[in-house]
Amino acid sequence: MTDTILQPATYPIPANCFAQTVTEVQHHTDRLFRFRITRPSSFRFRSGEFVMIGLPNAERPVMRAYSIASSAWEETIEFYSIKVPGGPLTESLQRIREGDTVLMRKKPTGTLVLDALLPGKRLWMFSTGTGIAPFASLIREFETYEKFGQVILTHTCRDVAELAYGEALMAGIRADDTLSEMVGDKLRLYNTVTRDAAFPRQGRITDLMTGGRIFADLGVPPITPETDRGMICGSMAMLRDTKAVLERFGLTEGANSSPGTFVVERAFVD
Ligand code: A2P
Repeated sequence: MTDTILQPATYPIPANCFAQTVTEVQHHTDRLFRFRITRPSSFRFRSGEFVMIGLPNAERPVMRAYSIASSAWEETIEFYSIKVPGGPLTESLQRIREGDTVLMRKKPTGTLVLDALLPGKRLWMFSTGTGIAPFASLIREFETYEKFGQVILTHTCRDVAELAYGEALMAGIRADDTLSEMVGDKLRLYNTVTRDAAFPRQGRITDLMTGGRIFADLGVPPITPETDRGMICGSMAMLRDTKAVLERFGLTEGANSSPGTFVVERAFVD
């Protein structure tokens, strides 16, 4: 064990980083965990953005992009991470404990933001694995429901245990008076698995859209550029394939500088 790397910083903190304290760590499965750090009072972000994080364990620490999973109004910052065996950051990051120091760059960024989308009726958030993180922030954001009458969060994982984070998010919203009033009946979670027979909904999101199954299950019309907007977050392959499906439905990619009918995020770990 390399416990020494988790001690309070012994290396100088890079000028472009905050050094924050871990307040909570929860391991969901042997592949996934979430953690929270203190929030610097000057740190502002838009829901859906990511920020580079690392550990104070080297002169030039390894930094990786992590979507911020907490809401803009919360006092701590949450991240949801995969544990990659031998991964340059996650091999150490998965061992953090309450009280440890995490480095966070001062400037968040990203295209998975409401400002990069044209107005629409229904917002689709497509995620696989830890790609649900930016949506954890966006589904607890007032502006999301101000702008869209219907919000559908899709989450596809290999097995049922990996769906727990998304299920807990929904339960958290229902249990909170303010959030449940804000969200009302506008938000729906559509989760599926691809490698576990013990779940009613099966299949990759790309296949479920192409075959039309998801629209039948939800009782909504197929995606059109007139009414539907999309946000995509997952692995490189998932981003590419889901983007291609949305383009076949007639949607076009947007960015902060030129809003469109869907946006794609590329916040990866390792
Ligand atoms: P599959 O099990 O068929 O690979 P991972 O944990 O590898 O990131 O995968 C998370 C989920 O994303 C899995 O259910 C996986 O399905 C799915 N997935 C992987 N690649 C793609 C892709 N190109 N398009 C859509 N879904 C994908």
